[in-house]
Amino acid sequence: MDRIRIERIEARYRDGWPRDLMHVRRSAFNRGPGPYPLRRQVCWYVRAVVDRPHRKPKLVGYVVAYPLYDDTASFDEIAVLKEYQGHGVASALTANTVDWLKDNGIQDISGLAIHPAMSHLFRRHNIGGTGGPPTPPLNTG
Ligand SMILES: CC(C)(COP(=O)(O)OP(=O)(O)OC[C@H]1O[C@@H](n2cnc3c(N)ncnc32)[C@H](O)[C@@H]1OP(=O)(O)O)[C@@H](O)C(=O)NCCC(=O)NCCS
Repeated sequence: MDRIRIERIEARYRDGWPRDLMHVRRSAFNRGPGPYPLRRQVCWYVRAVVDRPHRKPKLVGYVVAYPLYDDTASFDEIAVLKEYQGHGVASALTANTVDWLKDNGIQDISGLAIHPAMSHLFRRHNIGGTGGPPTPPLNTG
C-alpha cells in the first residue's frame, strides 16, 4: 500500500470542483457531478494523496465539510478511490477532519452515514452524535 499523506485546504469552489476530486468521486460513487448547491460556500477540503516522483501528488480520497451555523458543521462527503478502499484511508481522513474542525471551534458535526464504514467511523468520532437533548420516550398510552 502506498504511503498516504493528508492535506488540508480551506477553499471556495465557485467554478466547479477540482478535476482530481471529480475523478475520485466518479470512482467511489459511480456517478458524475458534485454537490452543486453547496459549492459556493467556504468548505474544508481534506485530501489524502500519494506522492509520485516528478508528478503531481495523486488524490486517492477526500472529505468535504462545511460550516453550518455558530459552532456546527456538516461532514458532507467522503470518497476513496476504488483501488485504495479497505486500507484505512477513510479512517485517516475522518480523524484528520474531525481534529481540524475542532481546531476551528466546531463543537457539533453532523453527517449522513450512507455506507456501513461511515456509520462505524461516525460512531467512533461522535459525528451526528449526542449533542442535542435526549429523545423523549414514545407515548404508547
Ligand atoms: C465509505 C468509504 C469512504 C470507506 O473508505 P475506506 O478507505 O475503504 O475505509 P477504511 O478502510 O478507512 O475503513 C473505515 C472503517 O470502517 C470499517 N468498515 C469497513 N467496511 C465496513 C463495513 N462494511 N461495515 C462496518 N465497518 C466497516 C473498517 O474496518 C474501518 O474501521 P477501523 O478503522 O476501526 O478498522 C469508501 O468505501 C467509499 O468511497 N465509498 C463510496 C462513497 C461513499 O459511500 N461515501 C460515504 C458517504 S458520503
